[in-house]
Amino acid sequence: FGYFTYDPGFTSTASCRSDITFIDGDEGILLYRGYPIDQLAEKSSFLEVSYLLLYGELPTADQLSEFTSSITRHNMVNESLKNFFNGFHYDAHPMAMLTAVVGSLSAFYHESIDVNDPASREICAHRIIAKMPTISAAAFKHMIGEPFIYPQNTLSYTGNFLNMLFSRPNEDYEVNPIAEKALDQLLILHADHEQNASTSTVRLAGSTGTNPFAAIASGCAALWGPAHGGANEAVLNMLEEIGDVSNVPKFIDKAKDKEDPFRLMGFGHRVYKNYDPRATIIRKTCHEVLNELGMSNDPQLELAMRLEEIALQDEYFVERKLYPNVDFYSGIIYRALGIPTEFFTVLFALGRTPGWIAQWMEMSADPEQRIGRPRQIYTGAATRDYVSIDKR
Ligand code: CMC
Repeated sequence: FGYFTYDPGFTSTASCRSDITFIDGDEGILLYRGYPIDQLAEKSSFLEVSYLLLYGELPTADQLSEFTSSITRHNMVNESLKNFFNGFHYDAHPMAMLTAVVGSLSAFYHESIDVNDPASREICAHRIIAKMPTISAAAFKHMIGEPFIYPQNTLSYTGNFLNMLFSRPNEDYEVNPIAEKALDQLLILHADHEQNASTSTVRLAGSTGTNPFAAIASGCAALWGPAHGGANEAVLNMLEEIGDVSNVPKFIDKAKDKEDPFRLMGFGHRVYKNYDPRATIIRKTCHEVLNELGMSNDPQLELAMRLEEIALQDEYFVERKLYPNVDFYSGIIYRALGIPTEFFTVLFALGRTPGWIAQWMEMSADPEQRIGRPRQIYTGAATRDYVSIDKR
């Protein structure tokens, strides 16, 4: 039997060194490459932040323009990829489609990839950031039974994505600038979060030298769970289940009851024990967007605010330092933009893609990098002899 540090959930294990994202959970600080998240959310764009995550510095105007051209150049997917979607029933969960179709990119790009070559890694990064909106929008169109819309390079990254979601052939559609700005900001807020479960999954898969698109697909799979990116969908389902402000105390009691598996979705975080700085920004944006869209009386926003208010005064949540996280208000914005609940986690995946691939690039370039291989504390039977079946 070996003796190893037992650390379930890796609460005190640093699995890598990284220059990308800094979090101080006690102070509620989140920095991408040193830049505070609130400044990036207010002043930057998702593509600029993607560049920052990949290359470590904010781009000059020329660098951003070159990066944007490269992303638009790679945003088409092979026509035959459409056939993957046709294999899914209309009610397939979009995260199931996303995971599968992103994984299938590894069949289109494999022999040409050299994970030890920085230029090859860079092109993989551009490809996945470019193709993720196209694949995500195709999953959406398949889900609602409409024809796929091709990318439009005259639009911004987020504008193009919204166009692929909501426009239809032979119909006029103009991207709503309020929706474009709000979604772009949400993508920035989701872009990286150091060694969370899905990013750790991408790194662990990537540490074997596997195809990077397969590694990103494994990140999508890990993200889907309700304890991680699936929480945004779970929050809206929870708000629907609560139904009315008068039911909030009953659900707060359920969340506190250790015999009841119900948890307040969108509450609590492994690292943030003061507040989640992303939630503070999203809460503000949520009010602004709903106001601008003339939906400020949204009953679910009222319900969410009441839930937050009661929980933050409750000893159970205070003692355990449980605060609203990034997923608590994001779903209310997505819904206001006309996005169905089951699609929310795809938006998280879209936002997290530059973070996943930047972490994969960093890992692949790290000379200290070894295959990820945790050990265990064995708790099973001691050595014993085989017993033939007639004697058991
Ligand atoms: N509702 C009720 N109780 C909770 C909640 C909650 N949402 N979150 C944690 N607790 C309790 C938990 O029961 C435990 O109590 P006790 O000490 O009495 O056993 C204590 O708080 C510590 O919880 P934990 O499960 O040990 O904490 P963790 O760091 O392992 O889990 C978490 C963090 C985010 C998975 C968890 O808080 C949770 O399940 N939250 C709801 C799901 C959610 O919103 N997830 C999104 C996370 S942020 C976005 C992302 O990273 O994807």
